[in-house]
Amino acid sequence: MTSNHEEVTFLLLLKNRNFLRLFLAQTVSSLGDWIGVIAIAVFANRIGGNTAVGMVMTARVLPGFIAGPIAGVIADRWDRRKTMMTADLIRGAVVFSLPFFPSLAYLLVASMLLESLTLVWGPAKDASLPHVVPQHQLTHANSLNLIAVYGPWPLASLVFALMTQLAGFLSHAVPALEGLAGNEDSLALWVNSLTFVFSAAMLYGISLPASRRRAGKLDLGEVKRDLVEGLQFIKNDRQVRPWLLGIAFTFTAAGGVFSLGIGFVDDVLGGGPQGFAFLIGFLGVGMIAGLLSVGVISRKVQKDVMFSASIVLLGAGLVALASMNSLGPAIPIAASLGFFGGGAYSTGYSLIHEKVTDDLRGRTFSAAYTVIRIGTLVGLGLFPLFAGAIGDNTLTLPFATLDLPGSRVTLWLAGLVAAGGGLLSMRAINHRDGKKRSSERGEGDGYLIVFEGGEGAGKSTQMAAFVEWLEARGADVVTTREPGGTEIGMRIRDVLLDKGASEMDPRAEALLYAADRAQHVAEVIKPALAKGKVVVSDRFIDSSLAYQGVGRGLGLDEIYEISEWATEGLMPDLVFFLNLDPSTGLERAGNDPDRLESAGEDFHQRVSAAYLDLANRFPERFVVLDASRSKEDVHKEILRVYGDRAGKHAPPATFARDLGPPGPPMPR
Ligand code: TMP
Repeated sequence: MTSNHEEVTFLLLLKNRNFLRLFLAQTVSSLGDWIGVIAIAVFANRIGGNTAVGMVMTARVLPGFIAGPIAGVIADRWDRRKTMMTADLIRGAVVFSLPFFPSLAYLLVASMLLESLTLVWGPAKDASLPHVVPQHQLTHANSLNLIAVYGPWPLASLVFALMTQLAGFLSHAVPALEGLAGNEDSLALWVNSLTFVFSAAMLYGISLPASRRRAGKLDLGEVKRDLVEGLQFIKNDRQVRPWLLGIAFTFTAAGGVFSLGIGFVDDVLGGGPQGFAFLIGFLGVGMIAGLLSVGVISRKVQKDVMFSASIVLLGAGLVALASMNSLGPAIPIAASLGFFGGGAYSTGYSLIHEKVTDDLRGRTFSAAYTVIRIGTLVGLGLFPLFAGAIGDNTLTLPFATLDLPGSRVTLWLAGLVAAGGGLLSMRAINHRDGKKRSSERGEGDGYLIVFEGGEGAGKSTQMAAFVEWLEARGADVVTTREPGGTEIGMRIRDVLLDKGASEMDPRAEALLYAADRAQHVAEVIKPALAKGKVVVSDRFIDSSLAYQGVGRGLGLDEIYEISEWATEGLMPDLVFFLNLDPSTGLERAGNDPDRLESAGEDFHQRVSAAYLDLANRFPERFVVLDASRSKEDVHKEILRVYGDRAGKHAPPATFARDLGPPGPPMPR
């Protein structure tokens, strides 16, 4: 969250020195990784034939299940920059050593080690990204990062071919290197090892804040606690869990496409291996286009909606692709599959970056990696079996015969699996920020309504009129305010608004508001909600976000975290924001301003802009009211909105629509 609305471009990102270093480290070591994958396969084949290749591939997949979750704990516990550099240097040394020990056993151990280190590197990098770029640039940054991971893939086979040529040449031309003859893959392995050293060097120059890292020795008890904490978070979080499900289903489908694709293109579309390469090429182009455009689309569409919709469309696209009979029409469909896949991948990353707090991020990413691996494996293994089991069939209809090869039916199934994953991930949308709403937290049937606004916007007046209206209709209402909704809160309020306390540090101010809120929630709001009452509060968490987060410049995320901790995650069900130009409001507020009111017009302009920004971001809870209109007009709109939004908490619809006789004169 940020109030910074500068235009985000890829160029702007690459001018960020820290990001550029991370990007180069990622691009070059990915190139190395891909070269390494080919070189290790060739090397394994040389020392043990096809069986050795299969064993090495298995050795690369296995650590995902064991080392994966622990890697997440490491990424959350240790200094992430040092973790990545150490992983790079060890990977470099291991790859470098491979040609010197041409034994299958060594290769298997080395492969497992390499994969485990990659599993540590990835989550550490992903979790660091929000420290390197500001939040509003995250989507663009994720797109570039994913291009850095997959972009070098096509280049890798070319570089590998060049390396083996060069090794062949060197083995003849340079006497000291004659050992390369017959071992041409060694040179490619050494180049791969150098890419890790390059990556470590890039990371050395990055500055990442170390403050939040829990440095220290590795204590097994704590590792276990972190592991359990991470797994429980992933299992219980109402947003993260559906996202991971969406990711798992998508990769299951992707595994199916990889295992069945060649056969389908060959048998059904009639394209042969070249046709398959062609389709994959277009898929890749579509994916890059998807990655490049998510940033722009995400300005218009909420990311979680985009994420789920992309997965559903991906599934639908796959069903369409599997229904084709020739290569021509399949090509644009493949490109669109890539487009949606790229979009889903990048938004998925950004969602985790934005919604998961720093201390859990490494573990969440490593869970995502594990889920991706399991999904892909299931897809790779299960779908071909399924296709084999159903075999090729023909359906004879009165007007035509339909070929139903096993690969087509299975790809349809894969498409449905992906679409199902997309639908499941939509559950997260309902819990976007409503996950912590009073009504869904088992805190009884209450309803929390908050009035927000700058100084002199008429907030207290409107609130009083609204409460009166509610009570006149028999609602059980608790009226309260911040700061000062409790005995202790009154004392905190005095300190906060005391003009004599002009030297108060902004952080102290933020913590005092949070302290007042903690007491307020525990003593007044929660018990009332538990009894099913309607709680109407003059100000709540959004005041802190606007005044301290933006007005004082302490940062929305930081203030949100403090406040969320103070309230144990309680969020309002509905917020009425009375919007009024601050200069008018300050005039209305009178001539004995308190400490906050005297903070200057600039400050209040920022606060006002921050409220509008929050309202934009969280339309689920916010309603913006133009407070420059007459009191009666504003009051009527409040009643109308309340009738529409509050569901069963609102009086019967007839009351809400027909606003009743003009009430008693409103207090001022
Ligand atoms: P009031 O005048 O509406 O009673 O609010 C007291 C002042 O406290 C007002 O200027 C807004 C400010 N405030 C914050 O800065 N942060 C907060 O979290 C809250 C609740 C109020």
